[in-house]
Amino acid sequence: MKRLLINIKKLVHVEDQPVPYLRGAEMNQVKEIANAFLEIEDGKIARFGEMSDLHGGDIAGVAEVLDCEGKWVIPGLVDSHTHLVFAEPRAQEFEDRIHGLTYEEIAARGGGILNSAAKLADKPEEDLYDEAMTRLEEMIHTGTTGVEIKSGYGLTTEAELKMLRVAQRIKRMSPIPVRVTFLGAHAFPPEYKENKEGYIDLIINEMIPAVAREELADYIDVFCEKGYFDLEQTDRILAAGVKHGLRPKVHVNQFNAFGGIETSINHGALSVDHLEVMNPEDFDALLKSECMPVALPSCSFFLSIPYTPGRELIDKGLPLALATDYNPGSTPSGNLLFVWSLACIIMKLTPTEALVALTHNAAFALGLEKEMGSIAVGKRANLIISEDMNSLGHIPYHFGRNSLDRVIINGTDFRH
Ligand code: NIG
Ligand code: FE
Repeated sequence: MKRLLINIKKLVHVEDQPVPYLRGAEMNQVKEIANAFLEIEDGKIARFGEMSDLHGGDIAGVAEVLDCEGKWVIPGLVDSHTHLVFAEPRAQEFEDRIHGLTYEEIAARGGGILNSAAKLADKPEEDLYDEAMTRLEEMIHTGTTGVEIKSGYGLTTEAELKMLRVAQRIKRMSPIPVRVTFLGAHAFPPEYKENKEGYIDLIINEMIPAVAREELADYIDVFCEKGYFDLEQTDRILAAGVKHGLRPKVHVNQFNAFGGIETSINHGALSVDHLEVMNPEDFDALLKSECMPVALPSCSFFLSIPYTPGRELIDKGLPLALATDYNPGSTPSGNLLFVWSLACIIMKLTPTEALVALTHNAAFALGLEKEMGSIAVGKRANLIISEDMNSLGHIPYHFGRNSLDRVIINGTDFRH
């Protein structure tokens, strides 16, 4: 099936020579084509260029011509960090925080991740699947065209495998590419409070081998944080994951910086995520690596905690990706358009830099850079089409609003 988009006002972030990701000043210098066309064949980008290069005869064999007058065609957004499978919202904790408790205090009282784990244990797989799929469809509506899903609300072998099976089913059924991450090291379950070594042992010697044997995950994650998993425990868990073929993508530096970035990089991490608190050594470690820093500004917004210094990372010549962190505790939103606004308004990224962080670099952070993230021949036709607009900034400027005219997945319009 061929589909032709014509009269595109601007085709944004066109790549002639594909590169895995963009860093520093490159993030603001992407190629655009004004008054363009784009042809889709079998769900992939087949051809694109200026309208003047589209000759009449080229339209032969095209099933549908879509007039994009006034509209911009942009690579689909990619969300490289979510906890999409969960049992219940945690709105009570939201109210507790309004009354002055912190995220850490709520967790210390047995709320937080442990609250989600208790609820997940009793919920049937079928219901977890249906509800996560509904969330995923809502995310596609706001431009998400590729996604990561983590486990981490199980915290027993049985419940972690259950979460991963749900995520794998979503991976099979979803119209957009999904990657799955094992996050057994998300919190210590209450029964291991006085026996932390026992839980580490369970993760390393039981959970990871089972996850690998059943091929339930692509990546491994650890919540490396004070009160959760320390540096030495993170080191051992990541090493065990790598031994079983799981590449690290790690929660680090959310509340405290104590070397988690360097440890993750030492294990070949694909990305390090959060980074709200950064030491000079953390920047140095990133500069010497090929590891993607991932900022989660809607988590900072919701918890009222510092924002990742995204401007500084880019100004130092580093790459940056942006993701939602969608989860019931720290970010009950999967809306990447809102992340785009926050990146511009609070982190002072230009609309173009933020777009690269949400597409090309986000695809790299998920290992999907060969199939999506830019407009290039052969890449998946996962695209977003804006409403009529005069600048890219129109989309993040209208914060809290959906300025997309349509979302195209594998060449086809997504209908919610
Ligand atoms: O990325 N920081 C650790 N994990 C999640 C929050 C999980 C939760 O509160 O349920 C995060 O913010
Ligand atoms: Fe997270």
